[in-house]
Amino acid sequence: MIDMTPEEFRHLGYRAIDLLAERLGDIRTAAVRQPVPPAQRDQWMHAPLPETGTDAAALVQRVADEVLPYPMGNSSPRFFALVNSPSAPLAWLADLLAAAHNASVAGGDHAATYIEHGVLNWLKAMMGYPAESMGLLASGGSVANLIALAAMRNVKARGDMRAHGFLGEGPPMVVYTSTQGHTCLQKAVEILGIGSAFLRKIPTDADYRMDVAALRAQIAADRAANLRPVCVAASAGTVNSGAIDPFEALADVCAQEDLWFHIDGAYGGFGILAEQTQGLYKGLERADSLAIDPHKWLYVPIECGCVLVRDGQALRDTFSVLPPYLRDDRALPWLSEFGPQQTRGFKALKLWLVIQQIGMQGYRALISRDIALARALQAKIRARADFELVAAGPLSITCFRYAPPGVADAPALNKRLLESVQAEGQAFLTGTELDGAYVLRACIVNFRTTEADLDTLLDVIVQAGQRALAAG
Ligand SMILES: Cc1ncc(COP(=O)(O)O)c(C=O)c1O
Repeated sequence: MIDMTPEEFRHLGYRAIDLLAERLGDIRTAAVRQPVPPAQRDQWMHAPLPETGTDAAALVQRVADEVLPYPMGNSSPRFFALVNSPSAPLAWLADLLAAAHNASVAGGDHAATYIEHGVLNWLKAMMGYPAESMGLLASGGSVANLIALAAMRNVKARGDMRAHGFLGEGPPMVVYTSTQGHTCLQKAVEILGIGSAFLRKIPTDADYRMDVAALRAQIAADRAANLRPVCVAASAGTVNSGAIDPFEALADVCAQEDLWFHIDGAYGGFGILAEQTQGLYKGLERADSLAIDPHKWLYVPIECGCVLVRDGQALRDTFSVLPPYLRDDRALPWLSEFGPQQTRGFKALKLWLVIQQIGMQGYRALISRDIALARALQAKIRARADFELVAAGPLSITCFRYAPPGVADAPALNKRLLESVQAEGQAFLTGTELDGAYVLRACIVNFRTTEADLDTLLDVIVQAGQRALAAG
């Protein structure tokens, strides 16, 4: 029952591929998403544990009938929410092939290990990061940041952090990010036992970039209070507005103050490839560690993040449970020595294929195009009297409000209209808070989006806004 003949597998596999091909055909015209009916939701969540087996073909049919009609929506050209991109269809096949290959990429002499090393080298080259650094593919940006900060903690510890934790460490460590730093940095300092009370959120300038003078003042105040500054965690593209922190100045502060310089590039790291923005990344190559997220702007399916650490030995010393005298460096070190996972999936295959399919010229063009579309959206918003542009970061995020003349409380109106836009499913976006006030936020990491989709987005917002105003 569990195994299949090649013929059975081929037959079912073709059916699954047909389902995906149908979706691909509809993607531009179909609604972005639709709400899950409550009965369907309950059925999934409360179904009894099956005692007997079910025919595999019937199960694939269930996916067709029940699952595929309720996507998150990020394959659609009119999905502007969060930082979730569509993925390259070749990578769908890669995940299927990788699952069938079923290698654990802990290490060893088999294809998947070498391909991950090769892909890591490509990612370093893309980012202009030192070739002798070391890294790992991870589940996403959050875990990539966590792994990087774990290496930082180990390097900055006065004692043997791995054996004794913070016992006897003396004054608390302090980590610095900006008020716009991603919440995963807070999770990381909490998980690592540093504590969120010692994560300083430094104010930003008018463009939401970390204020270097405020950082210096906070470090001085913390030293005066007998605390121990250890790390600046900067952002290469904040999630709210896409701000890129001033890396050269921050690298200088870190060098002068003997701090670890980390950069969270989960959203915007690959913006280094775009002609419009590459100049803003100067100094990134000086970072001690870097988190990037191929499942965002490199268009491979979730999950795929990546951490790179300049001092590979420091990363290995953080996680390896092999004493140095047992390490066999004649062969390649095991990847499992550089991170928390032992058994590791073959995430590298999708990247290996899609990077070759698209090539660097292709990626530069795709990412530049997303940024150009964001500029076009901003120009449309500026040109209209019924919209207000709130933040236009250097990358592909636009924060704005529908604010027809005479509206008293635009943030409240936009919160209300967003619910209606989301329920309707013609376009999908989310909101955020900037400077304490609610804004709509459109993020374009989408090779399918066209300028016509931007017009649809604005039209849908106006219609929802007018309905909300009419309802009073
Ligand atoms: C700036 C930034 N950092 C970190 C993350 C977390 O990455 P992930 O969701 O892949 O864990 C995100 C996600 O959007 C992000 O935008």
